[in-house]
Amino acid sequence: MERIVDAKKSEEDIEQTLRPQNLDEYIGQEEMKENLRVFLKAAQMREEALDHVLLYGPPGLGKTTMAHIVANEMNSNIKVISGPAIEKIGDIATLLSSLEENDVLFIDEIHRVPKFIEEVLYSAMEDRVLDIMVGDVNSRNIKIELPPFTLVGATTRYGDLTGSLRDRFGIIARLNYYTIAELQKIIWRTSKVLDVEIEKPAVDNLAGRCRGTPRIANRLFKRVSDFALVLGDGFITDQICEDSLTKLQVDKYGLDSVDYSLLKAIVEKFNGGPVGVEALAASIGEEVITIEDVYEPFLLQNGFLQRTPRGRCVTEKTYQHLALENSDKLC
Ligand code: ADE
Repeated sequence: MERIVDAKKSEEDIEQTLRPQNLDEYIGQEEMKENLRVFLKAAQMREEALDHVLLYGPPGLGKTTMAHIVANEMNSNIKVISGPAIEKIGDIATLLSSLEENDVLFIDEIHRVPKFIEEVLYSAMEDRVLDIMVGDVNSRNIKIELPPFTLVGATTRYGDLTGSLRDRFGIIARLNYYTIAELQKIIWRTSKVLDVEIEKPAVDNLAGRCRGTPRIANRLFKRVSDFALVLGDGFITDQICEDSLTKLQVDKYGLDSVDYSLLKAIVEKFNGGPVGVEALAASIGEEVITIEDVYEPFLLQNGFLQRTPRGRCVTEKTYQHLALENSDKLC
């Protein structure tokens, strides 16, 4: 099922354009920003690389953006790779040996780095040594000294990281959902950067319907601006905003058709729950990992879903919001 909150290749460019370049431009995550400012300054005063940074939290909250900002603030280069793309020892060896002093190595989805490769990261992070076996028959161990560098790891699944890897990060920060006020600021900024005018009620409307997530705010902004251009004169009025979000099936809480099918499945097929995530995933044709990482965090945080030891249950709020009967079946 296609989803308005899914990242699409064609939209990565827009995300790139909208990405703040430094801490001053970055809106929200105030605590993390203030701490990072101190750590960056201290590293610069000591003329050292910043300690390794682990960023975790739901998708779309700015982990990649923050990794680029760390590199910019350190006036360093950034090398970017995703955990699943590191398949062989050679992949990580090439990457590590290409690093220059104070470079940032950004590993997205770091929880998906294969375990045998993780071990290479340990000595690279801790001792700045690339320690690998080379050769097949007469294999031997080689150790190559690495320049000071900062590994920035990002993950949606903090709990999936091994303790050994977690322990090697000196800075660990969680990104939280954004407040409405922060999202309003981000939307005003997006309007300026993309040079698309929007009226205040439409900003407030969008901010309330983007699931606390800047990536979704920006994606909805783009889609709504398409409607404004084609059906109006390009100016995003609240009426256009309202009409287009209805067409996009995004409701007043930001729930979309997938959220609805997930919540309705629990109610209609599993009697309100509890239901295991595997059965739930199968019943709506989604992957378990997608449900856990993308859909559930927001539904849980906003009281539409509960996790119990026996499985997922819907809540009174869900019954009310979906205007469904049977709220006596709450678990
Ligand atoms: N665009 C996307 N996320 C942003 C953020 N946190 N601050 C400013 N602009 C953004």
